[in-house]
Amino acid sequence: MEKIVILTGAGVSAESGLGTFRDEGGLWSQHRIEDVATPEGFARDPGLVQGFYNARRVQAAQALPNDAHRALARLQQNWPGEVVIVTQNVDGLHEAGGASQVLHMHGTLAGALCASCDHRWKAPDEMKVGELCPSCGAPSGRPDVVWFGEMPYFMDQIYDHLAEASIFAAIGTSGQVYPAAAFVHEAIAAGSRTVELNLDPSAVVSSFDETRFGPASETVPAWVDELLGQRGTPAPA
Ligand code: OAD
Repeated sequence: MEKIVILTGAGVSAESGLGTFRDEGGLWSQHRIEDVATPEGFARDPGLVQGFYNARRVQAAQALPNDAHRALARLQQNWPGEVVIVTQNVDGLHEAGGASQVLHMHGTLAGALCASCDHRWKAPDEMKVGELCPSCGAPSGRPDVVWFGEMPYFMDQIYDHLAEASIFAAIGTSGQVYPAAAFVHEAIAAGSRTVELNLDPSAVVSSFDETRFGPASETVPAWVDELLGQRGTPAPA
């Protein structure tokens, strides 16, 4: 059965009210990446970093999934083969929209990670500077998100899925952050059909077989309907 691998980025959650990074007014126009999204920034000013992710955790907890999240969950539930969602997003909106198999390659705001012993636990709403690890007791709790300079999670699994993908879709991602931006090339090497669904063309748009531009809440349900054969199928005579 055909396997579908879907990579999502901040654009899929934009219509749920969560800001993207690089669009006008996005998070990286308000904060310096080196200050809030690197291990060095955390070592320099843990209060600033915890505050940044605490605010995003509160926002994410209040956000609701949109029609794009729900459509991808519907695809997972109804496609006869496997549908793997790989997300760069640290919110939980795919799961809130009903999706089950979601690989959070950049981690999740819902998680805490001990920088000393790698223990993971559920993050409190507000993480403090020197948050104690419940396993080793070190004051080393940090958000379980992947920062620049760190290895994204689940890479072996993701490459295995890409090697078996018949269809690869990238949704709402600017194609500026690697390794995710190169997944399309892995998919092409595996013989996948590739499609980009985005508001604006990504940095790697020319690599895709097909492109669909518009808000994810419209393009994604339409694409899912087509895949599931609910549109474009002639009515029985
Ligand atoms: P970006 O902010 O770089 O890109 C957002 C993409 O979403 C752009 O291509 C927009 O055109 C598109 N977009 C915006 N609104 C949309 C909508 N309503 N419907 C569809 N598309 C829309 O976000 P990402 O590509 O996700 O990593 O960024 C990748 C990584 O860079 C993030 O995971 C984060 C960031 O730095 C880390 O922090 C490690």
